[in-house]
Amino acid sequence: MERTLAIIKPDAVQRQLVGVIISEIEKNDFHIAAITTQRLTAAQAASFYDKYRATPFYDSLVATMSSGQLFVLLLEKADAIQAWRRLMGPTDPERAEPGSLRRRFAIDLQQNSVHGADSPETAEKEINFFFGERG
Ligand code: TYD
Ligand code: MG
Repeated sequence: MERTLAIIKPDAVQRQLVGVIISEIEKNDFHIAAITTQRLTAAQAASFYDKYRATPFYDSLVATMSSGQLFVLLLEKADAIQAWRRLMGPTDPERAEPGSLRRRFAIDLQQNSVHGADSPETAEKEINFFFGERG
């Protein structure tokens, strides 16, 4: 069993896509080990995406991620990190496979509905960010 951190982003929460996304998570045999809702402050979103601080999209990314409620999930499955990234599809929804969550639901490159950790190290860091000792 591997674990990963998944987020249903504000654009998807606002459009009432939480149910359909969690349904896909369950259909794909992930175990939801923990779930929480949170609204990030701009400072918290800035800290979460700190490695993008030098990019031109950083300020709008921080604004987007702190614009509304998040659903944050701790997922478990064999190869969970890659399996969740496959189900999400690539960052740019126009490049995503039909059937992937971003192809189905993303509005654009930034409002792309879901987040997933990209390595075991980031997964543990992100799980700790949202769940702390509960993770
Ligand atoms: P990144 O970690 O590259 O993508 P992913 O979410 O697939 O791991 O980027 C983090 C988020 O930053 C991405 O989901 C949306 C936003 N972003 C932009 O707004 N513009 C960009 O050009 C890129 C690459 C990302
Ligand atoms: Mg990433």
